[in-house]
Amino acid sequence: MKTTELIDIMTKGHNMESYDRAYASYQWEEVEKSFSWYETGKVNAAYEAIDRHVESGRGDHTALLYSDPNRTDQYTFREMKEESDKFGNLLKKLGINKGERVFIFMPRSPELYFSFLGILKVGAIAGPLFEAFMEGAVRDRLEDSEAVALVTTPTLLSRVPYKELSALKHIILVGGEADEQNGFYSFEKEMASASSELDIEWVDREDGMLMHYTSGSTGKPKGVFHVHNAMLQHYQTGKWVLDLKEDDIYWCTADPGWVTGTAYGIFAPWLNGVTNVIRGGRFSPEDWYQTLEKNGVTVWYSAPTAFRMLMGAGEAPVKQADLSKLRHVLSVGEPLNPEVVRWGMKVFNKRIHDNWWMTETGGILITNYPAMEIKPGSMGKPFPGIEAAIIDDQGNELPPMQMGNLAIRTPWPSLMRKIWKNEGKFDEYFRIKGWYISGDSAYQDEDGYFWFQGRIDDVINTSGERVGPFEVESKLVEHPAVAEAGVIGKPDPVRGEIIKAFISLRKGHGASDNLKEEIRSFVKEGLAAHAAPREIEFIDRLPKTRSGKIMRRVLKAWELDLPTGDLSTMED
Ligand code: WTA
Repeated sequence: MKTTELIDIMTKGHNMESYDRAYASYQWEEVEKSFSWYETGKVNAAYEAIDRHVESGRGDHTALLYSDPNRTDQYTFREMKEESDKFGNLLKKLGINKGERVFIFMPRSPELYFSFLGILKVGAIAGPLFEAFMEGAVRDRLEDSEAVALVTTPTLLSRVPYKELSALKHIILVGGEADEQNGFYSFEKEMASASSELDIEWVDREDGMLMHYTSGSTGKPKGVFHVHNAMLQHYQTGKWVLDLKEDDIYWCTADPGWVTGTAYGIFAPWLNGVTNVIRGGRFSPEDWYQTLEKNGVTVWYSAPTAFRMLMGAGEAPVKQADLSKLRHVLSVGEPLNPEVVRWGMKVFNKRIHDNWWMTETGGILITNYPAMEIKPGSMGKPFPGIEAAIIDDQGNELPPMQMGNLAIRTPWPSLMRKIWKNEGKFDEYFRIKGWYISGDSAYQDEDGYFWFQGRIDDVINTSGERVGPFEVESKLVEHPAVAEAGVIGKPDPVRGEIIKAFISLRKGHGASDNLKEEIRSFVKEGLAAHAAPREIEFIDRLPKTRSGKIMRRVLKAWELDLPTGDLSTMED
């Protein structure tokens, strides 16, 4: 079956038969023919996302509609090409080579996107960092990745310990003064003199393109490494899951510091040539509804926490907004409550389409399509070309309705290719031959829909952001009053989970509310606001194994009043 025929099947009408037909006849090879590399063998994802549309006569189409409380700006595909070409030339002037890491640490702004694309265009690897990271989080990532250049702002520079980062040679300041002898360049000055014609670096499909650091249950955040080939998945899921058509106005609310903000905030929309809405600034229900209305958003991709907060804001603000253009609404990152789906039906007259994937998977794997009957509470069914299953710890596939490891048959185009400088961590995902083990538990129902149950490890998902308990515990014990700390995710009606810390104090420190506040700020200032425990409880001793490992599962059981399970390994 031709790809075009399949698209019609996937997006028109609502029936399972269309899904089954598409699923049965899908070939990734067909998708490859959508791109220019099909003939040359050489690729560049930034070229496919931007330049290709200029060459095909859509250069005047709006690519970026940017707004924040102080700025409104828009750029066509041609302008995006020119700006990213200029940035690429700036990097070339600095001598940045293919494969080197160039990180971005700045608030959402058009300049962030020009930089991101320019980095890819010279064959370097982009590493976008969330603007709310504090010094500790920034240091860990720049140190591990050995980034050679950083794009940031004078304000955020105060959180970059650049003197201690030996690999970091160049800092490009957006809105800042140059001091070239010491490696500081002015973005504006350099861009003003850079040529808008770049000799693009053609790379192989398996060459690196992007790194996102993400949390596991142990150790520091790991650098998940993606290659240009991932664009196949971004493009195709953009078509079938996001249902993007050329004249769509699309808004993905995620920050590019997280994987959704690149895969679906940069690649999927631009590979499909649609207008991409980017909004800077903080969350507010009124502003969000205005962003939808003012830009005439047709396709909207957000997250359960945001929907729950909008739900909490009541119906008045949504009734004031004209959302008549809105055609398709999607959600990712955490479990989407059936109640939220019902609320969406009521206020938007739209079904919110849940989908499942991870930083490591690089793109959507399980989803509810426009052309599918959705079951509220289910993540949906595997994307065509993806085989998902529930398996036990030995790799046996489990029958419907049995809970187990959510696993995906390897490989697929956007799967991570490595964990940066950590082969051991990478191999853990593939410990059962032929499968990628997600770390999530789920079951499949009789109709083949997948239902999320929880994490198998201790990773916390707060407002859709992954937080490793170990990172928070490590920061907590740096505080002079803290002897030991155990951190868990505690269910929360709005945020999915909140971070709760159990802390035993050092001798001479008394428990008080002030101390709790001080400890919370300590994590906020040192790591990031979203990693700071919302709840702190002081206890005399933490439950530990005989070998001294903190038993988070026991803390969680205490907290939730659940049975503590097997305690045979616990110290006396
Ligand atoms: C969780 C975000 C329930 C899951 C794209 C996964 C979900 C982790 C869903 C990845 C969903 C993601 N329903 N849980 N639809 N989507 N998750 O790496 O635990 O930030 O392993 O990627 O979020 O989070 P990450």
